[in-house]
Amino acid sequence: MTPAEQSAAARRICALAPIIPVIVVQQVTDAAPLARALVAGGLPALEVTLRTPCALEAIRAMADVEGGVVGAGTLLTPADVKAAKAAGARFGVSPGLTERLVKACEDEGLPLLPGAVTASEVMRAMEWGYDMLKFFPAGTSGGAAAIKALGGPLPQVRFCPTGGVSLANAPDYLALKNVACAGGSWVAPDAKVQAGDWAGIEALAREAAALPR
Ligand code: 3PG
Repeated sequence: MTPAEQSAAARRICALAPIIPVIVVQQVTDAAPLARALVAGGLPALEVTLRTPCALEAIRAMADVEGGVVGAGTLLTPADVKAAKAAGARFGVSPGLTERLVKACEDEGLPLLPGAVTASEVMRAMEWGYDMLKFFPAGTSGGAAAIKALGGPLPQVRFCPTGGVSLANAPDYLALKNVACAGGSWVAPDAKVQAGDWAGIEALAREAAALPR
């Protein structure tokens, strides 16, 4: 799958809802009910970060949830890409972009949403063929103003800002024409997951899904 094809798939995934939940699963038994709550609340695209020992198992459990499109986040190496694909991830997210990651996603056929924040990083991603990028870490990289400014010389690129995005500041990002959607962890807070408060998480998802863009 070429980078251009990967970005086309990533654009379709980013079009599903204004927010992609960024999820850290501590216990695999939480995975399916958490995914069901987020999907029921209107957030079908889910990013499970490969930061906990059970992350791949969680992706496997979530992949069966009806209506969900589960991806793997924090992809750093070709081995991560391979493992994510084998676990059933339908897309991948990386905080950055390396040649080895590009090659792995081409070989595995995994649509990648790679990270870039500077004009040079964005141009390098474009040289490979990517035009749908994660803007990470959004809050400390200039926020919505920076993305708006990048849209001047680089209007063909769309972004998914992630990192420091909240219900309060998401509208600033989503109002930009070069922002497709945003990523955020606030819709799946650890305390609510630990408490099994799936109704509470569904309510947070519903609120995020209603954000205008
Ligand atoms: C991350 O990789 O942890 C994401 O950027 C989530 O950031 P957030 O917790 O600020 O939403």
